[in-house]
Amino acid sequence: MLKGKDLLSIHDLSVEEVNEILALAHELKAKQKAGIEHHLLKGKTLGMIFEKSSTRTRVSFQTGMYQLGGQALFLSNRDLQIGRGEPIKDTARVLSRYVDGIMIRTFEHEKVEELAEWSDVPVINALTDLLHPCQVLTDLLTIQEYKGKQLKGLKMAYVGDGNNMTNSYMYGCAKAGIDFVAATPKGYEPDMQVFENACKDAEETGASIKLVNDPFEAAKGADIVVTDTWASMGQEAEHDMRKKIFAPYQVNAQLLAEADKRVIVMHCLPAYRGEEITEEILEAYADVIFDEAENRLHTQKAIMALTMG
Ligand code: CP
Ligand code: NVA
Repeated sequence: MLKGKDLLSIHDLSVEEVNEILALAHELKAKQKAGIEHHLLKGKTLGMIFEKSSTRTRVSFQTGMYQLGGQALFLSNRDLQIGRGEPIKDTARVLSRYVDGIMIRTFEHEKVEELAEWSDVPVINALTDLLHPCQVLTDLLTIQEYKGKQLKGLKMAYVGDGNNMTNSYMYGCAKAGIDFVAATPKGYEPDMQVFENACKDAEETGASIKLVNDPFEAAKGADIVVTDTWASMGQEAEHDMRKKIFAPYQVNAQLLAEADKRVIVMHCLPAYRGEEITEEILEAYADVIFDEAENRLHTQKAIMALTMG
């Protein structure tokens, strides 16, 4: 179903396609743990364009391609001609002649859409200012491992900045049937167009998507509490100001007392201890959080195998 398609946003995927990605990710993870080779992309190449920093995304995509029997090229904008002004539409057409898929991490979401429009090979969004779909699909896989395959009816509370992760959680939860609530300070809500789209998507699964300002209200009875940095890449200059505004939105023991007794805490990392999450809570849920980081590998392998295979 996904063969030859781009993965720019979870909004573009059907519920079946989301389930297909998760099912293959579980299978590839089990195969890797059992030492069974799974060279679904033998001889294929992924081009990886990075205009922002990365630890997990870069290493998991590159290692994932290798484990699938292919190879990956790290293409930094510091070295590429796009960094000197070559148009995206030319870069897309050139790379399409060499590689079998393109992964991109950049600022403007429109840039990824333009790349996909001009590219003849699948394009995977590895984070923009608007969305981070690979991370949220990974989080769905991780939630299935901890809470069971049936995601419908679970409650997720996101506490903090309404950013690219929040936007993607709204799309991901809508497709998975998870009831989602985000608590953000006034003026730091997630993208309203994404919110409206997600509410429409949620009609199919019966999920509810809500936005509030009170973190304690959001955390009440939650099965999953999740947060992310208060200053995303590109917002470094606002860090000190944001630290003050977001202080009431920290994931700490007091907030978690509102959640379900079997709550899990997730974080896409990198984490800033003492800001969006306390050291104590991060370490108490380290098993979940580092499984979540590992699962980038398995989920992205499934995405690449399905789109580029
Ligand atoms: N979570 C995530 O995308 O991490 P990196 O920025 O290290 O890739
Ligand atoms: N919201 C964060 C996510 C990092 C993986 C950022 O964009 O920097």
